[in-house]
Amino acid sequence: MKKILTISALLGMGCLAGGVNAEPAAAVKTGPGEIIAGKMLAKSKCAGCHGAESSGNQDGLPDIAGKSESYLVEQLKAFRIGYRNNLMMTPAATSLTDKDIIELAAYYASLKK
Ligand code: HEC
Repeated sequence: MKKILTISALLGMGCLAGGVNAEPAAAVKTGPGEIIAGKMLAKSKCAGCHGAESSGNQDGLPDIAGKSESYLVEQLKAFRIGYRNNLMMTPAATSLTDKDIIELAAYYASLKK
């Protein structure tokens, strides 16, 4: 009986902890590692159009610097699966892996608007 109580107490605590730390499934903790990796990817794959820091609205391109990570992840995935379509942007997004997208989003989100 004592054992059962202990187990249920532990399970209860697990639920509480889970509730406090609960995050949307898509949220991934990113940090300096992702930002640096994203910067390298951005230089080779995105800067040609969006500029190195996407700080200006060059040639009518959307400025993506400083947008939220979740927004950027969503847009990149939308291009990747063809939900959003653009002659220039779609080819740039189709070869991205989930990891690339997370890193790119972390990098662009880290930039000043
Ligand atoms: C060949 C040029 C080109 C390249 C390379 C390119 N983009 Fe784009 N990007 C565009 C254009 C044009 C748009 C606007 C598309 C539209 O209006 O639907 C866009 C839109 C976006 C958007 C949506 C912005 C918004 O607020 O709706 C994001 C995010 C984005 N690009 C990120 C990236 C990333 C990250 C890379 C590198 C993997 C990249 N782009 C590479 C041309 C490019």
